[in-house]
Amino acid sequence: MTIPASEFARRRRQLMRMAGRDAIVIVPAAPERVRNNDAHYPYRQDSDFHYLSGFPEPEAVLALIPGRAQGETILFCREKDPERERWDGARAGHEGAVEQYGFDDAFPIADIDDILPGMIEGRSRVYYHFGRDTEFDLKLIGWVNRVRAMVRQGAKPPHEFVALSHLLHDLRLFKSRAELRTMRRSAQIAAEAHVRAMRTTRPGMNEHEVEAELLHTFRRHGAVASYEPIVGGGANACVLHYRANNAPLRDGDLLLIDAGAEFECYASDITRTFPVNGRFSPEQRALYDIVLAAQAAAIDAVRPGRAYDAYHEAAVRVITRGLIELGLLKGTLDANLRDHAYRRFYMHKTGHWLGLDVHDVGDYRIDGEFRELEPGMVVTVEPGIYVAPDLKGVPARWRGIGIRIEDDVVVTSGDPEVITRDVPSDPDAIEALMAKR
Ligand code: GLY
Ligand code: MN
Ligand code: MN
Repeated sequence: MTIPASEFARRRRQLMRMAGRDAIVIVPAAPERVRNNDAHYPYRQDSDFHYLSGFPEPEAVLALIPGRAQGETILFCREKDPERERWDGARAGHEGAVEQYGFDDAFPIADIDDILPGMIEGRSRVYYHFGRDTEFDLKLIGWVNRVRAMVRQGAKPPHEFVALSHLLHDLRLFKSRAELRTMRRSAQIAAEAHVRAMRTTRPGMNEHEVEAELLHTFRRHGAVASYEPIVGGGANACVLHYRANNAPLRDGDLLLIDAGAEFECYASDITRTFPVNGRFSPEQRALYDIVLAAQAAAIDAVRPGRAYDAYHEAAVRVITRGLIELGLLKGTLDANLRDHAYRRFYMHKTGHWLGLDVHDVGDYRIDGEFRELEPGMVVTVEPGIYVAPDLKGVPARWRGIGIRIEDDVVVTSGDPEVITRDVPSDPDAIEALMAKR
């Protein structure tokens, strides 16, 4: 584990301090999902549960009970079971949970109905993610009702139910040193995968063959994909969430790859766009240079004290100016910015929070206003230009070109730290790398 057990314990303490002594926090593990019959989807722990526990198993529930004398941090988990473990692999068991993960106490998940209502009793507030998992919502209501049924015997049921996300997701937004170390590693693995893709790509290959090269690098380092990779040649790059990844790559086209690794649950998220044959055409290069300049301007705005949307606005300005210079937009910069004319070519935002989730949690606005960037936040910076193959009023030579460049950037007290630099985005560097194939 890159993140030590002591850090998970610190996060639990922090959350308990924020929740207050009359609260209980309840967080279930992610359920296993059946793909068909006996086959499951790959198991991925719930990010909130992982953040607070580091515990990798399904069928577990974390209860945080600040100030409880017999123990504040409680895990319910599967019991050891040699017969089941022979089929499905080892379990920590409740003793292992205490020893290895540092909970104050642990109980078999089979006993939760008997134990948890007694822990809820006397707590005035319940912090929980309502509406995420209907089955678990109903269980929680059942436990609370068990307490309510005992009111005449003197039981005190909770009377406030609070969304957990406000407290927890603000904690998750600020990455610790250990988290940043893990994210740098995730970024390095993803960068290596993109370099391998550039080295391997040749005209006539299929998009899925390039995808295989990415996955090879992820798995070699014990990572998985943090989302389904987008590997889109030619006009497929203009489909923003292209996922088919099954077309042949043509000489003269660009290839857009949006692929990130997930290492120890932390995501990276990189996009590179490069020529299938290793050389940019003049039109491709002209648009590419605009996107790269937009990204540089945006990255420079990823600084503490800047509003969250400043880096998007910086990218939009450079893209709009560039499209005017190429004649793809007509009129003045101000008029085009005012009318959002760039949206025909650039229809998404310039980034998002990054962390345990690829589109990570945390509010972008506070009281309706974009919040300020602060050290420890991590964002992606991913401007693009997409000239759809059927876009009206655009000369044919520009059509079907889609370009995005995406890097992962840490807000520091000084200059922005780009953690995905190990794969080139400079067009000359890309051509030089591909020339050595
Ligand atoms: N790969 C998803 C994104 O770039 O946001
Ligand atoms: Mn991406
Ligand atoms: Mn992204």
